[in-house]
Amino acid sequence: MNHNHSQTAAPNSTVRYFYLTTVFFLTLTGFGQMPIFKRYYIADIPGLGWLAEFFVTHYIHYLGAIVFLALASYLLVDYVVMKPRSRKLTATGWIRCILLAGILFSGVFLVIRNFSGSNLSAAFIILLDLGHLGGAMAFLLLSAYCLIFRKKWTTAV
Ligand code: HEM
Repeated sequence: MNHNHSQTAAPNSTVRYFYLTTVFFLTLTGFGQMPIFKRYYIADIPGLGWLAEFFVTHYIHYLGAIVFLALASYLLVDYVVMKPRSRKLTATGWIRCILLAGILFSGVFLVIRNFSGSNLSAAFIILLDLGHLGGAMAFLLLSAYCLIFRKKWTTAV
C-alpha cells in the first residue's frame, strides 16, 4: 500500500525521455528552417550539414510534431480524465501548457498553410508564423528558468 498522495501522474522516465527528445529536435529543426545554421557556419561542422537542408529539417519537424501531438494527447487525457485530483498544475506548469497549446495550434495551421490549395490570408499566416516563433522562444526561455529554479510542472494535491 502506498499512502503517498503523489503516487500517480508524475510522468515516468519514458514520458520524460520522449518529451525531451521531441522538444529538442523540434527546436533544432524549427530554427533550422529560418535558416540560421548555414548562415552562421554551424552546418559546416562535419556531421551537421543536414541542418541546412530545408526538406530534411522540414520533415524531421513534421515527424517531431506527430510524436509531440501524440504525447500531448496522452498527457492531457492522463491529467484530465484518468487521474483527477491526484496532482495539479503549478503556475509555471499552466503557463508552459498554454504556450505549448499556442505552439501546437499555430503549428497545425502552418501545416494546413503548406498544403497546395490552401488559401489562408497573408495576414493570418504572418500571425501564425510570429505566434509559432514567439511561442517557441517564450516556452524555451521559461523552460530554462524552470530548470534553473527547479520549478515543477505539477504538485501533489
Ligand atoms: C516545442 C515545439 C516546437 C518548437 C520549439 C517549434 C519551433 C519552430 C520554429 C522556430 C519554426 C520556424 C519559424 C519561422 O520560420 O518563423 C517552426 C516552423 C514550423 N513549425 Fe514548429 N515548433 C514546434 C512544434 C510544432 C508543432 C507541434 C507543429 C505542427 C503540429 C509545428 C509545425 C511547424 C510548421 C508547419 C512550421 C513551418 C515550416 C515551413 O516553413 O513550412 N511545429 N517551428
